[in-house]
Amino acid sequence: MTQDELKAMVGRAALAHVVPGELVGVGTGSTVNHFIAALAGIKDRIAGAVSSSEASTARLTAAGIQVFDCNAVGELAVYIDGADEIDARGHMIKGGGAALTREKIVAAQARRFVCIADESKRVEVLGRFPLPVEVIPMAAQRIVRQFAALGGQATLRLADGAPWVTDNGQHILDVRGLTIADPPAFESEVNQWPGVVTVGVFARQRAQLCLLGTADGVQTLTY
Ligand code: 5RP
Repeated sequence: MTQDELKAMVGRAALAHVVPGELVGVGTGSTVNHFIAALAGIKDRIAGAVSSSEASTARLTAAGIQVFDCNAVGELAVYIDGADEIDARGHMIKGGGAALTREKIVAAQARRFVCIADESKRVEVLGRFPLPVEVIPMAAQRIVRQFAALGGQATLRLADGAPWVTDNGQHILDVRGLTIADPPAFESEVNQWPGVVTVGVFARQRAQLCLLGTADGVQTLTY
């Protein structure tokens, strides 16, 4: 199976974790796009969605699924999203699609995080995938130096030669060369650096369950 077929398989499998009659939190990315396509088939059985990005909002709306603002709703039963890496405890690196801040916000509003990922995303230790960090632009170069002191090489994410601008109007640093042995401690430390909006380590908002797409089918991992 191709990686995209594995993503489609777990996108469909995630429907089993959507609670009928309730709102569902929806992440961002190519795996989630498969989930949204599947969700469209049961849209009359859910109350709607809370979205983690402008891109997912556009897809949900086009599929006829009503999108609610976080502030207009209470706790969500479940948040379903992909990951760039996931370790054996459900800690993740996220933000490859630059939506990490809203993803963390919606995840924090949900009782359960269900991660949908193909098997290439499973790792022993987080850090092989360049860590996305959303930053306030005026702080970017100091934060680059702070990562250098930890052994990381941070670069500004670009689009067509200009800084990538997130849905929140901020910039993204991608940090290579890190080995994140203690994700909760790392997340807490980097979160406190002035100018960091969101670090793409999801340890506090870790997954409770992962639907992992493998050549042998969907594996369900619980944490
Ligand atoms: C977007 C994310 C995505 O969940 C992550 O990048 C995985 O993406 P994909 O499903 O396309 O592999 O964090 O900000």
